[in-house]
Amino acid sequence: MGKQRGFIESKLKENRVFYPSIDFAQKANIDTDELERLKKWAEMDWEGFWRYFAVKKIHWFKRFEEVLDDSNPPFFRFFPGGKLNASYNCLDRHIKSWRKNKAAIIWESENGETRIMTYQELYIEVNKFANVLKTLGIKKGDRVIIYMPMIPEAAVAMLASARIGAIHSVVFGGFSSEALRDRINDAKPKVIITADGGFRNGKAIPLKSKVDEAMEELDYKVDYVVVVRHIDRDIHMKPLRDFWYQDLMSDPDYAQIYCHPEAVESNNPLFILYTSGSTGKPKGIVHSTAGYLLWTMLTMKWVFDIKDEDTFWCTADIGWITGHSYGVYGPLAMGATTVMYEGVPTYPTPAKWWELVEKHSINILYTAPTAIRALMRLGNEWVLKHNLTSLRLLGSVGEPINPEAWMWYYTTIGNERAPIVDTWWQTETGGHMITTLPGAQAAKPGSAGTPLPGIFADVVDTEGKKINDPDKGGLLVITKPWPSMLLTIWGDDKKYIDVYWKKFEDKGYYFAGDGARKDSDGYFWIMGRVDDVLNVSGHRIGTMEVESALVSHRYVAEAAVVGRPDEITGEAIVAFVVLKEGVDKSRHDEMVRELREHVQKQIGPIAKPQEIIFTDALPKTRSGKIMRRLLRDIAAGRQINQDTSTLEDATVLDKLTELKQKLEEEMNKNNSSNK
Ligand code: WTA
Repeated sequence: MGKQRGFIESKLKENRVFYPSIDFAQKANIDTDELERLKKWAEMDWEGFWRYFAVKKIHWFKRFEEVLDDSNPPFFRFFPGGKLNASYNCLDRHIKSWRKNKAAIIWESENGETRIMTYQELYIEVNKFANVLKTLGIKKGDRVIIYMPMIPEAAVAMLASARIGAIHSVVFGGFSSEALRDRINDAKPKVIITADGGFRNGKAIPLKSKVDEAMEELDYKVDYVVVVRHIDRDIHMKPLRDFWYQDLMSDPDYAQIYCHPEAVESNNPLFILYTSGSTGKPKGIVHSTAGYLLWTMLTMKWVFDIKDEDTFWCTADIGWITGHSYGVYGPLAMGATTVMYEGVPTYPTPAKWWELVEKHSINILYTAPTAIRALMRLGNEWVLKHNLTSLRLLGSVGEPINPEAWMWYYTTIGNERAPIVDTWWQTETGGHMITTLPGAQAAKPGSAGTPLPGIFADVVDTEGKKINDPDKGGLLVITKPWPSMLLTIWGDDKKYIDVYWKKFEDKGYYFAGDGARKDSDGYFWIMGRVDDVLNVSGHRIGTMEVESALVSHRYVAEAAVVGRPDEITGEAIVAFVVLKEGVDKSRHDEMVRELREHVQKQIGPIAKPQEIIFTDALPKTRSGKIMRRLLRDIAAGRQINQDTSTLEDATVLDKLTELKQKLEEEMNKNNSSNK
């Protein structure tokens, strides 16, 4: 697999190394000696290591019986028998301390409106909403879908669900009603929590109406919809099913001030989060309570070097794992102040983010390479208007960061003072896996770094043999279970085994789906997905999902979707489409537009192909498999110099080559007319 995408030879050579300043290293939570000690400890006494941190970091209602139950691999269960509550760990223990009046969430909107919720305020809001959910009949183990804009109520909904032992599933607010419907059908929630809408780019975007659309053709009955009034528009509310959040929260019959936290077992699912894989259907990744919480806390402390005085901003939407682990659970469990921003980085001006950093004296900023590249392109003047000296640490996540963007982030945003942590992890891993610790390790632009203490990762060949050649790429695996690992795929244990464990069954390795190389210092260089998953703006999009969206359109007979390197988004979606017999091709531009909109409607704007190319046939192997690598070359305008002997029909290649020439000519024409 790796070979097909050309991952085996790594072309990226980057020799620069950046050490933290002495000042940073001296004050860091983890210094070089401590890192060495932790690594050795985890190697020599793996169980003792995890036991120590689990006891130290988590408030338990009942102590766990053992560190790991591995009697039924790969269904590993950490800290079995323990009882805890995630919302108690994020709230109750802080309000019993001086943090009671510390800011838990600082929220800001595009127009500069700010809301600050202290731990005490958040605690009351969560307790009240937990009681609301209980009154609506939600019980432990029931699913709660959250489809919300980036407002504090989204975090309240998550924590309230956790408080009563229900399982939340946040669906990204940018997903379409169809995508929402699929997730509702899979998770079967009793209640959906949403808002009338959200703000983005200066516009109010409706949300509740999408919930209504999703509910129209549901295989399943959702009892209630709770709607936060946010954009203040008149919307349709279905009697006895739909309730305003604000009404319920001001009703003493529903919203009493204290809700007893449900003591759940360590492996009681805290949430389900859907993510794309190589099949047409998103997978519901299920996370535990104890192991997940423990690792988000430890990584906050080790990787983000979090201190009580810090203001921490993770820019990810709560609809993604990054927003879960480092927007909500990690920071709150650590008693930190977390920033939430509802809007885009460039509205009202391209200085919005830097304005936020200055206004709230943000100390730690965690974002994605795609955002860094987009902001970099807009020029330094937007940055230089603002005082960013509060920033002491920067983070990156979602895709490999190219050294040019890394350098800009380091010099222009961090003023060569703030270390950068490039964190490799996945929805499935719950928290960071490979990175550098900012006060203990040097950073190399473009490399994520090394596995964290307690995490064991490696690069292997397709047989599972470790690759020791520092220039040779292979497949990234995790060789030992870790506390914040996924429990399973919701409702599909078999798929869980097939996707992550089958490949290296005899070794018991977790297959991450990424290609990587390990250099002579043991630093990992991630080379991207080796399966049919694209990474567009740091978001995982399955090519199959886009393909099935395309073929559901009445024009389309067949479709193949590939990624093309893109300067801003990392990868851009290119679709090759075979039209049905008899479809009139003369309306080319109009059809392209229609198909792009169709995909947007089916999945959401992030999955909209950048380009759609009509072709008479797709290149296939004799066994009927689409030869995507050829299409990738064509999409990227590269020379086709691969072995094409397995092609079922060689004339397809001629036609595609012809097509490619035509495309290039067109591109040249466009380029010269743009000049
Ligand atoms: C990619 C996001 C290189 C990788 C937390 C992974 C990265 C997928 C990095 C997971 C990084 C994430 N360097 N690649 N620092 N971080 N990736 O599930 O391909 O949305 O498998 O989780 O993003 O994406 P997901």
